[in-house]
Amino acid sequence: MKARTPFIAGNWKMNLDHLQSIAFVQKLAWTLSDARHDFATAEVAVFPPFTDLRSVQTLVNADDLPIAYGGQDISEHDNGAYTGEISGAFLKALDTKYVVIGHSERRQYHGETDEQIAGKVAAAHRHGIIPVICVGETAEDLETHGPSAVPVAQLRVALGGALKGSDVVVAYEPVWAIGSGQAATSDQAQQVCAALRVVIAELLGDDVAQATRILYGGSVKSSNIAGFMRETDIDGALVGGASLQLEEFASIVRFQKHVGT
Ligand code: PGA
Repeated sequence: MKARTPFIAGNWKMNLDHLQSIAFVQKLAWTLSDARHDFATAEVAVFPPFTDLRSVQTLVNADDLPIAYGGQDISEHDNGAYTGEISGAFLKALDTKYVVIGHSERRQYHGETDEQIAGKVAAAHRHGIIPVICVGETAEDLETHGPSAVPVAQLRVALGGALKGSDVVVAYEPVWAIGSGQAATSDQAQQVCAALRVVIAELLGDDVAQATRILYGGSVKSSNIAGFMRETDIDGALVGGASLQLEEFASIVRFQKHVGT
């Protein structure tokens, strides 16, 4: 087994309201416990909309569930006149362990730049939240620059905001693979994730690079997760669509059952 604890993260995007989130997290916990999932072998986190976080926190605390949760975005600022933004201080007050930063949908629909993303990474670390930094190339980038150049350049800037000694998670998500049903091959994904680990080593040192979990995201399903998890530099998955299907997501979490089959 790899020294890094595998991490399966469900990015719900703009799906499931606070009542639905409670039902989902409760059922996920039951399904995994019925299947005797050992959380030491794969950490599980969900990333619900902001309005669900308080409900998820209450449930997780009340039932002592071994499921982590995170926000889908964070403001670069701590407070002030930033209508519609959510501060890291507010997320931390809800025991939010992680936050997704720089998802391609934020980059594409909200014009987030690499510099803003670095600012958000810094904000997460200021508040003791672990950023899940998303990078990935579009189909056009892939054609023009090959697979690694754009994600590597994005990560270089984003890590400029990281606080030395604080954890980060990196998610490699080729934009063309997100929601398309067309996942990268495990080989392609491994190559890019290896290049991303080199960037982490350069900027944060070898020890951090060896300890940092790098996820693959983009059309991950129970039928392809095992292939990704067999790769040396892939330590988990950021799952979108399939994270909304209970049995499917639970089966992805239990990927070790299908590795080698
Ligand atoms: P997908 O989304 O699994 O639906 O492709 C992944 C993501 O956007 O994080």
